[in-house]
Amino acid sequence: MAKEKSLFVCSECGGTSPKWLGKCPSCGAWNTLIEQVAGSNGPSNNRFGTQYAALAGVSELATLSEIEATDVARTPTGLDELDRVLGGGIVSGGVTLIGGDPGIGKSTLLLQAVDALQRAGQNALYVTGEESGAQVALRSKRLGLDHSQVQVLAEIQLEKIIATLDATRPAIAVIDSIQTVYSDQLTSAPGSVAQVRECAAHLTRFAKTSGTAVVLVGHVTKEGALAGPRVLEHMVDTVLYFEGDTHSSFRLVRAIKNRFGAVNEIGVFAMTERGLKGVANPSAIFLSQHAEPVPGSVVLVTLEGTRPMLVEIQALVDNGGPSPRRLSVGLDRDRLAMLLAVLHRHAGVACMDQDVFVNAVGGVRISEPAADLAVMLAITSSLRGKPLPKGFIAFGEVGLAGEVRPAPRGQERLREAAKLGFSVAVVPKANAPRKGSKEIEGLTIHAVERIEEAMDVVRRLD
Ligand code: TYD
Ligand code: MG
Repeated sequence: MAKEKSLFVCSECGGTSPKWLGKCPSCGAWNTLIEQVAGSNGPSNNRFGTQYAALAGVSELATLSEIEATDVARTPTGLDELDRVLGGGIVSGGVTLIGGDPGIGKSTLLLQAVDALQRAGQNALYVTGEESGAQVALRSKRLGLDHSQVQVLAEIQLEKIIATLDATRPAIAVIDSIQTVYSDQLTSAPGSVAQVRECAAHLTRFAKTSGTAVVLVGHVTKEGALAGPRVLEHMVDTVLYFEGDTHSSFRLVRAIKNRFGAVNEIGVFAMTERGLKGVANPSAIFLSQHAEPVPGSVVLVTLEGTRPMLVEIQALVDNGGPSPRRLSVGLDRDRLAMLLAVLHRHAGVACMDQDVFVNAVGGVRISEPAADLAVMLAITSSLRGKPLPKGFIAFGEVGLAGEVRPAPRGQERLREAAKLGFSVAVVPKANAPRKGSKEIEGLTIHAVERIEEAMDVVRRLD
């Protein structure tokens, strides 16, 4: 393909420059110029764009009620936990981005998925840019995928990848990883934002026009931001992220965005000697085993997608220096600062001169505010050096005024805790079973409306 002239466009002001400059000549902002292929914005200027233009030419205006709503056709991958996050399976023409730390299991999961699809009669193509074909073959042996018919292409040049895709038209194509793919038409280095974006845009167009389901693998960089993949989130239909501690064997795959299903649904896997195995009943995997209750530990019942899960929240409060530290792993740090202020103001618990560390066990990330009450109880428990009673759980959001607000689907959370043998709960009043309604067997529920009340309840339980 002839090399087209590139153009550098400022992401701040839209100003352009024929060559890369550190400073935008139009608005003076630094490091904002991003390379683009000249004219690639106009859909009719590219290979697949001409097909788009043809499509656009025939489209007619219609009201919503006139358009027949057809549900998308999904093909289950056969890995139940993956299908759950995808919303039922892969969608033809759909583009999925799957991100996560290096070594967390992205390639393993996708190789298992494409092999299962291939065995179910769907043609699958695995494009590997990170590893050689031999390495992929070695992994497939390790996974016990004998006589796998998945086609493997070791290639990193976009134009060649698209040509192969166009010639073979597989039902599903995995690009492992998008950061290794580069286009001839850009002078930027492979892995740069410009390259990643341009290549993903081409692959997306290919998916939409051919009906091939495309899965892009993206690495999270050291800083935690997805240099590359983050900028792709708006282009693709589905965004999945791997979570979990590489030191534990459990892995979560979470849907952050899904045009074909529910977001925040999670799939739970265990990394075994022979690849990732789905964990069908994951509610108790994020609990550590303490023979006796220890200070600073509270079990939170959190809701992940549609499933309640029990996660141990740990806090350590210790004498700090002149500028005490607040650190959190798996929980939001700004929210921690806020909860400490609420604890001080409304419950008289002062941690001003203390280091405060909080951690969600097992590398799981918790973003729902319903974790507030458990975090605050763990902090006070550590500060007082007093454990909570055996079989204790909590959940509930805490507001700036010290009020304890209900969490969504409280009854389900309580029932799950009772099922796992927990016996004492401190929860928002609105989540407790109403007077006269059926009680939850085995669970003594303390309903609270304010954080000070929760503190009183806990003190009485000592
Ligand atoms: P991988 O899928 O290569 O990670 P990514 O593509 O996200 O970088 O996973 C690599 C890790 O998984 C590696 O540390 C080895 C481990 N592993 C197993 O424990 N069991 C297995 O069957 C396989 C294939 C890998
Ligand atoms: Mg990999």
